[in-house]
Amino acid sequence: MPDIIPSPPYDDVVLGRRSIRGYLDKPVPRELIAEVLTLAMRSPSSMNTQPWHFHVITGKPLDRIRQGNTDNILAGAADSREFRRGQPFAGVHRERQVGVARQLFGAMGIEREDKERRQDWVLRGFRQFDAPVCVIVTYDRELSDSDDNAFDCGAVTTALVNAAWSRGLGCVINSQGIMQSPVVREHARIPDDQVIMKAVALGWPDHRFPANAVVSERRSVEEAARFVGF
Ligand SMILES: Cc1cc2nc3c(=O)[nH]c(=O)nc-3n(C[C@H](O)[C@H](O)[C@H](O)COP(=O)(O)O)c2cc1C
Repeated sequence: MPDIIPSPPYDDVVLGRRSIRGYLDKPVPRELIAEVLTLAMRSPSSMNTQPWHFHVITGKPLDRIRQGNTDNILAGAADSREFRRGQPFAGVHRERQVGVARQLFGAMGIEREDKERRQDWVLRGFRQFDAPVCVIVTYDRELSDSDDNAFDCGAVTTALVNAAWSRGLGCVINSQGIMQSPVVREHARIPDDQVIMKAVALGWPDHRFPANAVVSERRSVEEAARFVGF
């Protein structure tokens, strides 16, 4: 009889999960990804509309996406995300963005002036961190007038990365993978009636990869929450 490995407690999953940006060169069984998606899809959604789709990509199609993304970026192609991007971050948001970048570059030993290694790091993101699998999360275009889609895709994608972690898999949710959306649309054959939302690199974490150990900071509950009427 195969060993049954018990799932770790919820707190261990949530507190232990980190974004994983370095992977082992080892395939992930399709059944395991289906199991992870089954858990993730228990997420709530607006009126139970479940507007999401998952395009789970590996092998040659993923290699073509990595190559297309890299070629476009090196050629200076404009960002072609299919959703509103907003302004560059400022104030506290910029501080937090810089904060996690500092942690990651610090762990990797990449100096501020080292343009070459910084560029390598950025390109790594466009290659989906060389993960064996990339999940492209999309939603139904007919619902695109509503911001609920972004909310629902966020919920299911967070559930996905936590479910993956509970099975020993690592992920990083990322925009880099879908900044060249026509490349993704072509090689993943995404239908026109879906909007591309986000990429999730997925695979077995390489625990020797220094950035994988980074625990990003969070503000305290006192800073983020107000309690009214207690
Ligand atoms: C919507 C979204 C977009 C992201 N885009 C990127 C990205 O393009 N590249 C990257 O390296 N990480 C990306 N991340 C990962 C965040 O940097 C990471 O979740 C955050 O710093 C908190 O760290 P943690 O996931 O390790 O807790 C993204 C995360 C989210 C939720």
